[in-house]
Amino acid sequence: MRDYMDKNKKHECIYKKILDNSYDEIFVVDGEDRVVYVNDACEKHYGLKPEDMIGKNVKELVELGYWYPRVDVQPYVYKTKKSFTVEQTTILNKKLVTTIVPVLDERGEVELVVQNVREKTGLEDYKDELEKIRFLLEDKSEKEESEGFFDQKDFGFLTYNNKMKRIMKITSKAASVGSTILILGESGTGKGLIAKTIHNCSERKKEPFIAINCGAIPENLLESELFGYETGAFTGADKTGRVGLIELAKNGTLFLDEIGEITPRIQVKLLHVLQNREYYSIGGRKVKTTNAAIIAATNRNLEEMVSSGEFRQDLYYRLNIMEVTIPPLRKRIEEIAPLTYYFLEKLNKKYNSKNEISKELLDLFRKYSWPGNVRELENLVERMIITTEKDLLEIDNLPEVFIERMNRVNKGNLTSLDDLKDRYEAKLIKEYYEECGTTRKLAEKLDISQTRAARLVKKYLNS
Ligand SMILES: Nc1ncnc2c1ncn2[C@@H]1O[C@H](COP(=O)(O)OP(=O)(O)OP(=O)(O)O)[C@@H](O)[C@H]1O
Ligand SMILES: [Mg+2]
Repeated sequence: MRDYMDKNKKHECIYKKILDNSYDEIFVVDGEDRVVYVNDACEKHYGLKPEDMIGKNVKELVELGYWYPRVDVQPYVYKTKKSFTVEQTTILNKKLVTTIVPVLDERGEVELVVQNVREKTGLEDYKDELEKIRFLLEDKSEKEESEGFFDQKDFGFLTYNNKMKRIMKITSKAASVGSTILILGESGTGKGLIAKTIHNCSERKKEPFIAINCGAIPENLLESELFGYETGAFTGADKTGRVGLIELAKNGTLFLDEIGEITPRIQVKLLHVLQNREYYSIGGRKVKTTNAAIIAATNRNLEEMVSSGEFRQDLYYRLNIMEVTIPPLRKRIEEIAPLTYYFLEKLNKKYNSKNEISKELLDLFRKYSWPGNVRELENLVERMIITTEKDLLEIDNLPEVFIERMNRVNKGNLTSLDDLKDRYEAKLIKEYYEECGTTRKLAEKLDISQTRAARLVKKYLNS
């Protein structure tokens, strides 16, 4: 009997290994539409780990926008008990071909639905079959539901985190009605890209989007860029005068990046624009009006700058009518994998390469705290694609400077509960294993299964 059990266990292990290592995604759903199994391949399709998907309801995943369109498998498969194939697009913009196969129990009823999911290479032609099941696709309603998401992605902006999605929703509404928006957040969190996306998702999208980096140019130049000047306004000015960016923005959006850097004089002028929607160009006598929506961004702490007198309080209040803070990447860990895959795809195209990323490296990315945020991630992926000769990016291919930085940055914050638990567990297992000598005795001593004891020994002693 024992022998039989061992054999069974061994087989189970082998089956699991085969499934986990299958290049195609295997996705199994039960009668209640719950995911009962999915292999590691899901990560490259949705950016989610199997443990993030197993136990979830399919509807919930579809609503979060992980793939589109939703295929109402239940009524069809349960009635016909036949398999069929559909095409789907995922949150990472992967085009998938999914074959859905019902598994029947001994009474001939559907017990499970197994889906074999393969990335479309262009070689497969499932057209005929697709025609047949077209009626199953709830095309319109689904598209409408996830429209916000797909719109944003068309502009190269990926949102995956609920907080970010909420930010995008409220800000594009605010932008449509012309409300001023202030975007705060650490460097590299995507403030610039978000400003552009807000504009593109708003009703102003057909109007101009004019951006200026207030920190990059001296006061006088910034003033003439923003407000424009009349003929002969100052020595060295163009004879014909110059149209300012506020005017160029028309009914669109004016994006003032690094607003924390503007000098007191420009602060006053800008306050006037925000309050009265009016301004004078340099040397001009005729008042000009503007209807542009203003989006401002900074990585500085404006509130502190107000307290220290560096930034006008009244201007700050005008700007922060709608203030959003973009969380740093380390606070949106679930976006790390999708962003990595997104950059891989984008940069593979640029460099005509076909790099993939190892699971271990991706896990490491999730643990790193990314002080340079999304920009740092994007730059690292680009650098690795350029410098790695083989197609798989692995931990070994990380540039030396990155490893050094990672050690430095991560050293400071090894205090999470999980880290502490791991360290304590490692200490305990090492001590007890030395004392017991075998995993069987260790299992007895700690009142755990021998498999678990063996796993722990392998984890902490052999690595
Ligand atoms: N959600 C995202 N999806 C896709 N790309 C992103 C996302 N967020 C940031 N990026 C990319 O990361 C890089 C940095 O973004 P961006 O320049 O907008 O950051 P920032 O917050 O304005 O930084 P800084 O404060 O230094 O100006 C850009 O190349 C941008 O395209
Ligand atoms: Mg920026």
